[in-house]
Amino acid sequence: MELKKQLLLICYSFILSILSQNISAQNPSWMEVAPGVWKTVVGIPDKLDLFNTAGINPSLEALSKMKAEIFPLNENDIAAEVLNGETHLKFPLLKNEQIFGFGLNFKTVHQRGKILQLHVDHYGGTDNGRTHAPVPFYVSDRGYGVFINSARYLTVYAGTAVRKDSPEAPEPLDRNTDKNWSSQPYSDAVEIKVPAAGTEIYIFAGPTALDAIRRYNLYSGGGCLPPRWGLGFTQRVPTLYTSDQVILEAKMFAEKGFPLDFIGLEPGWQSKSYPCTLEWDKTRYPDPPTFIKTMMEMGIHLNLWTNPYISKDSPIFKAMLPYTGSHTVWGGVVADLTIPEAQKILLAQLGNSQVKIGISGYKIDECDGYDRWLWPDVAIFPSGNSAEQLRQTYGLLLQKITTELYHQKNIRTYGLVRASNGGGSSFPYVIYNDYYSHEDFITALINSGFSGVLWTPEVRGSKTSEEWLRRMQTVIFSPMAMINAWSDGTKPWSFPDVEKEVKEYAMLRMQLMPYLYTEFAKYHFEGTPPFRGMNLEEGFDSKTKMELKNENLSDNPYAEAVLKEIKDQYMTGEYLLVAPLFTGQSSRKVVLPKGRWYDFYTGKFAGDGEVIKVTPGLSKIPVFVKDGGIIPMMMPALHAPSVGVKFDLEIRYYGSKEGNYKLYDDDGETFDYEKGMFSWREIKVISDKKGKLSGTITKAEKGKPDNLGVVTWKFMSIE
Ligand code: GAL
Repeated sequence: MELKKQLLLICYSFILSILSQNISAQNPSWMEVAPGVWKTVVGIPDKLDLFNTAGINPSLEALSKMKAEIFPLNENDIAAEVLNGETHLKFPLLKNEQIFGFGLNFKTVHQRGKILQLHVDHYGGTDNGRTHAPVPFYVSDRGYGVFINSARYLTVYAGTAVRKDSPEAPEPLDRNTDKNWSSQPYSDAVEIKVPAAGTEIYIFAGPTALDAIRRYNLYSGGGCLPPRWGLGFTQRVPTLYTSDQVILEAKMFAEKGFPLDFIGLEPGWQSKSYPCTLEWDKTRYPDPPTFIKTMMEMGIHLNLWTNPYISKDSPIFKAMLPYTGSHTVWGGVVADLTIPEAQKILLAQLGNSQVKIGISGYKIDECDGYDRWLWPDVAIFPSGNSAEQLRQTYGLLLQKITTELYHQKNIRTYGLVRASNGGGSSFPYVIYNDYYSHEDFITALINSGFSGVLWTPEVRGSKTSEEWLRRMQTVIFSPMAMINAWSDGTKPWSFPDVEKEVKEYAMLRMQLMPYLYTEFAKYHFEGTPPFRGMNLEEGFDSKTKMELKNENLSDNPYAEAVLKEIKDQYMTGEYLLVAPLFTGQSSRKVVLPKGRWYDFYTGKFAGDGEVIKVTPGLSKIPVFVKDGGIIPMMMPALHAPSVGVKFDLEIRYYGSKEGNYKLYDDDGETFDYEKGMFSWREIKVISDKKGKLSGTITKAEKGKPDNLGVVTWKFMSIE
């Protein structure tokens, strides 16, 4: 009897312990937290997550301007449960549905059929989830987005796993005899493992995939708005350069007539680097304030490279020590930047030694990986946050605190960072890396637009002048037009046989500034990514590529993912379609979405909803403009217009459809736009009864920024 009782007691406590660990929340219930944005909480989420690390400040006003939508999925199709300290999530996928995102991938755009472990790292050549910004956000071409607000290493089965009870379970086939047998049978779900006892989930409504991305970006606070000079041309000088060499370099740009808005100093400006002292080197930079003043007088801003690992010779080493983790990186201590005191110590150093005297921004290196030099997952941090959480958020934290530093001074910054994550859309930082595949750099540019991050296909060295020019042509159509000459000392004129063409493109970048600046304003105010993939473009149909194979692609999403994706052409803003060529190519195919498209350079009709072949010659990168496209441009200039300086506008118009464009303007350098100090002007092109086109532009509202000088029009497509 006693034994029976004891057994019962053991069974009872065993069941109790299981129940207390495992929360079965099959169909979570959703709360609308902003128009078109729903949230649920599963289990007990970690205290530190992506949104609270980024300190998001949702743009509720902009979100409420978007059309109201109902919950975009069937609630019963979403399942979540906490099991033995892990959270398992399941989201539905329909036949024909394609998904995009999961951060900064380099080789693929379509993500259905992938298994990823989202993990901040330097990209290592495989799209396996280890990347600079493994943002746990995906969008579907059915027009919704899903975000998992967790700072853990998430495992994602993006349409690979098949459940026994799946309503769409594939029929098992006999491999002996059936040619249709597939090693990856059809799956109707995205399943995600969160290695924590709970998480928040957000769902973003469409109706289009682009709308879902807009809502995600707006919920994250809106995309960043760089200062105008940030959109000019930038050169990063070699390591160990001295202040005199930097001044000479800037003079060379001016003499040769190449535009230049900011110079980046690489390792060498600090007294020690890898680990860093975060303090000027007195021999190479004996008088930083005078040096910075001299540069600013030449119209050149300065950006400083750094990594966050603190040398024992740094002036902040001692103060920081109590707030550092158990492990070092290159012998430097790792600040636990989730602790406010640690943030303050770092900011005081950057603020007093650099920002106060006029440094305009940072390049925050090495906050991503590789594993072999970063702190391991067994490291311990004084806040109690895990090494994994620190790894997933370090780039976000560094962006957040440096952005705040500039915000407090009411000066905008625009810099570079090698790691980011969910919620980071509003930070004025562009991601870069050491990987250097031109083709994959373009795919990354496309993928950045699905994930609320910016990416630059930076130019370093090149083997041939052809490669050099091809790379220069693409970096011009990216968030940061940059040469990173830290190791090989290249200059825009390094290949004399294409110097003229490189200069033309550098100047084109400057001319496009009013358009690019406006497209960034739309990123900020409307959430629309300024650089994005074709799959987000109305009228785009990747079926045009299905001619390649006759198999039933909708039954085989894996083959579809590879065959149908377009990863070598993209949109720059509302109207420009850019189709780069790579070394060795003299012609390429361009998929034009439905509607009439025109050649950017000549205004000639190029095609309508079809695949065209172009042979542009080395001197051109193919760029096409949508019918009715309005491209506001300024005159070629060596620097971005500074505060209060008026500039003339040439408005180019393409096609024959009536068109309109909203042109953005503000002081270009401060945060006064947050207090309403900005203007939108309406540009319109209308046609009269005889089809004659004419254009108008409204004035800036009274008392609002107005930097426009003379406005001229160029109707590009008049035959
Ligand atoms: C790399 C970085 C390069 C350059 C270099 C300087 O980590 O990606 O762009 O800054 O460090 O040592």
